Amino acid sequence: MKDQFITAFTSYHKANGAAHLAHWNVTGMFFFQLHGLFERVYTTLDSHEDSFAEQARGAGIEIPASVFNQVPEVNWETSKDLVSEVLDLIQDYKDDLEDLHGVCNREKNLGFVNLIEGFMTDINTLEFLLKATLDEL
Ligand SMILES: [Fe+2]
Repeated sequence: MKDQFITAFTSYHKANGAAHLAHWNVTGMFFFQLHGLFERVYTTLDSHEDSFAEQARGAGIEIPASVFNQVPEVNWETSKDLVSEVLDLIQDYKDDLEDLHGVCNREKNLGFVNLIEGFMTDINTLEFLLKATLDEL
């Protein structure tokens, strides 16, 4: 479970960091809408962080500093690029959460399974909001 958790928690920070950067760096005609959209993404993700880490610690997993250090540089050319990049990172995080969910299920860590399922509900909403926005840019 440790490897899957570290992978998912790193993906979490990549997506969260990119959403912050997109929030701060967005410009242009859709500034107000996109500034708010990216804020919605990171505030939703922020609400997951501590319980995610605590659940891992409860399973005996130590959390390395490297989880914070892998936020990618984002392509800022257009608003569409920004939304697309954040969406890609959200989908990577979702894939990694699904892998972690599978391991937690096999190991019968039902507390962790329940927590991840709550996160997945939020991630599905964020994915929908980003995709719907991307379609209109
Ligand atoms: Fe702001």
